[in-house]
Amino acid sequence: MELIGTLLKLWLMNVLIINCSSAVVPFKDNYQTLIGGQGLYNASDDVVILNATNFKTNIYGSTKSWLVEFYNSWCGFCYRFAPTWKALASDILSWNDIVVVAAIDCADDDNNPICREYEIMHYPMLKYFSVNAHPPSLGLVIEKGSSIDSVRHNLISRLEIEQQEGRGITWPNITPYRNVEITDVWRTTSNNVKYFFFIFEKTDFHLGTEVILDLHRISSLQIRRVTSDNELLCVVNKVTKFPTLIVFGRNESQKVVNVKVSSRQGVRRAIKDYVIAKGINIDETIGTTVSHDMAQNVETAHQTTIGTIVKSREEQEGEEHSSKKTDDYLYQLDLENALHYSMNNEISLTKSINGEKMEALRKYLAVLTAYFPLRRGNTYLEVIRDVVKSRSTMTGEEFSQLAKTTEEVMSPVYSGAPHQWIGCKGSTNSYRGYPCGLWTMFHMLTVNFALEPNKVPRADFSQDPTAVLRAMHGYIGTFFGCADCAAHFVEMAGKNKIFDAHSRDEAVLWLWRAHNQVNARLSGDATEDPEHKKIQYPAIEHCPACRYVNGSWNEEEVLQYLKTKYSYSSIKYDGISGYNSNVGMINIGNGSRVRLERLAKEKRPTAFGWDLNVFDISICVVLYVTSTAILVLVCIKFAVKRTKKKSHISLLPKV
Ligand SMILES: Cc1cc2nc3c(=O)[nH]c(=O)nc-3n(C[C@H](O)[C@H](O)[C@H](O)COP(=O)(O)OP(=O)(O)OC[C@H]3O[C@@H](n4cnc5c(N)ncnc54)[C@H](O)[C@@H]3O)c2cc1C
Ligand SMILES: *[C@@H]1O[C@H](CO)[C@@H](O)[C@H](O)[C@H]1NC(C)=O
Ligand SMILES: *[C@@H]1O[C@H](CO)[C@@H](O)[C@H](O)[C@H]1NC(C)=O
Ligand SMILES: *[C@@H]1O[C@H](CO)[C@@H](O)[C@H](O)[C@H]1NC(C)=O
Ligand SMILES: *[C@@H]1O[C@H](CO)[C@@H](O)[C@H](O)[C@H]1NC(C)=O
Ligand SMILES: *[C@@H]1O[C@H](CO)[C@@H](O)[C@H](O)[C@H]1NC(C)=O
Repeated sequence: MELIGTLLKLWLMNVLIINCSSAVVPFKDNYQTLIGGQGLYNASDDVVILNATNFKTNIYGSTKSWLVEFYNSWCGFCYRFAPTWKALASDILSWNDIVVVAAIDCADDDNNPICREYEIMHYPMLKYFSVNAHPPSLGLVIEKGSSIDSVRHNLISRLEIEQQEGRGITWPNITPYRNVEITDVWRTTSNNVKYFFFIFEKTDFHLGTEVILDLHRISSLQIRRVTSDNELLCVVNKVTKFPTLIVFGRNESQKVVNVKVSSRQGVRRAIKDYVIAKGINIDETIGTTVSHDMAQNVETAHQTTIGTIVKSREEQEGEEHSSKKTDDYLYQLDLENALHYSMNNEISLTKSINGEKMEALRKYLAVLTAYFPLRRGNTYLEVIRDVVKSRSTMTGEEFSQLAKTTEEVMSPVYSGAPHQWIGCKGSTNSYRGYPCGLWTMFHMLTVNFALEPNKVPRADFSQDPTAVLRAMHGYIGTFFGCADCAAHFVEMAGKNKIFDAHSRDEAVLWLWRAHNQVNARLSGDATEDPEHKKIQYPAIEHCPACRYVNGSWNEEEVLQYLKTKYSYSSIKYDGISGYNSNVGMINIGNGSRVRLERLAKEKRPTAFGWDLNVFDISICVVLYVTSTAILVLVCIKFAVKRTKKKSHISLLPKV
């Protein structure tokens, strides 16, 4: 009974110390070191690195426009896209008084609220912010396409529209020249200008604009583009092929300049050669030339480095192949890291959760609450599940507050502060991590759902053998930040008939097959960690019986292997301080009370370190859970009200 007193006191202190307002302050942790680390760009790139501190001060009220990549350092597509982004930044460095190429890492916990506010639902996402943009502008999405050229062209199309709509008046004129004669070009031209060039090009081409922007810093030149739909001007000037370059000097009649190569570089070269021959100083262009040539160097340099790294790793591996065997274990820390990132960083990025999204979230939480093996019980998940159940709609922001508040009130929920990945640790920070943790978590859920069918007998989903797959399908399709991954997965789920699995065992095998399909597709990809190759799982050395001699799968053995690897009883507790991994595993019973009872009975060292008696602990838990649940509800309500008030205020200036 003394124990009850102690716990109650502790609880009261909690209530007093954690007042509602401090409970909604984001819980600071170090996920950036865990998920993706330093981001994909650094000071030696021409990409401007933005963060939560400097994002708005840079973007808003700027004399330049901004093209920002919102990325996520663990996202494979972002990793593959980074060289393109760096090359683009170098390629158009000379335009940086017009448009700045920047990036922000949404995997960084500090930046998370920014990415949520700007409605970044997939990575990488490119957004354009106009000159002198102001809140509440959230930027315009620019499609990235498949290459540096496609991004640049999409950007140019945007810049042209901007200028037509009256923004970018200080920029060089990139709208097509519409007059049908070019006799009086000098009338509106500044006195510095010595040569006036016209680039005739096909309508919808971008070369003219590119050259104008590339050379706009040379004050003695003026360049305009004429598109082929200005037929009269083309005919008058006898222009029959595109691009054609025509130049006017002051007091000189017009001349056609020979363009040897019909490209952006070729036209640029022709203009420069022409004016240099006329004795014009084009020092200002040095920046341009250097930056562009550098861009190419960067690109080739990058490719060669990757090439060499891969090669040397392969050679290395060949040498030590027999000696290096990786183990295949399930780690508590990986499961917890994945859960934490999902709850605190990923779900919260969805602006508004309702309808199907809400349904997906509920199914996910229901399955987690029933089958996730938090070591101190799943009341944290229960509270969140119940609050979400009581709401028909919720913003990502509110969910994030709910997760953080509940985590603080019920602290400790996890086995300590965020830790390194163990089984999902990559050879560098840009490999593996969260996506690996998510796969692992869902395998673990399908397996234990099959192993312990009566764990939560009254759950809504207990009749559905595909309940975990359904939860995963909904989660990946709705919340998984890697949009292309999600699209692939949903497509594959349709093709492979995810919901046709007739038993819980079949569901385990369905996910195994699906994952192997993804492994096969990604094998040899740039995102593959050279030290953790994408194999058809499980590896022969881990399960020789899983394959027949003819090489095809023995699915019974595979199922057995999966059930062993992913079961609760195989979880390893490496990296968790104060836990001796040799002691064995914590048995997961049928709910937190039973779990704690068992712990008490078996006198396992617990987080509380007290010798508990069954009766004491059960009463405490009941008291603790009900009162904290109420507290959380109150806090949430409070927080929601505050947010609403805030948003009203910020809406005012708009009116
Ligand atoms: C749903 C989903 C879809 C994805 N789609 C894409 C995509 O389209 N493109 C892309 O670039 N990236 C995609 N990813 C990421 C990619 O699959 C990997 O997660 C990432 O590249 C990290 O790989 P990894 O080497 O850590 O191993 P992962 O593939 O993440 O595997 C994690 C662990 O699971 C175990 N495992 C591996 N295969 C199986 C299996 N068949 N059955 C059971 N256990 C297994 C292994 O122990 C492995 O270490 C996706 C991730 C998820 C969760
Ligand atoms: C930036 O990263 C590259 C590797 O990606 C590295 O070679 C370079 O030294 C880094 N530069 C700085 C300034 O950190
Ligand atoms: C954001 O970036 C600026 C400039 O690079 C840096 O000075 C600042 O410390 C960064 N802030 C955070 C929170 O990382
Ligand atoms: C152009 O010609 C006019 C008169 O013919 C002359 O005054 C002027 O200096 C000339 N300008 C240049 C740049 O040669
Ligand atoms: C491989 O062998 C197993 C059992 O011997 C058999 O069931 C399976 O059909 C064989 N597969 C192929 C592709 O021959
Ligand atoms: C609790 O779970 C165990 C297996 O872990 C099972 O044998 C037992 O029947 C369950 N009890 C209840 C009440 O569901």
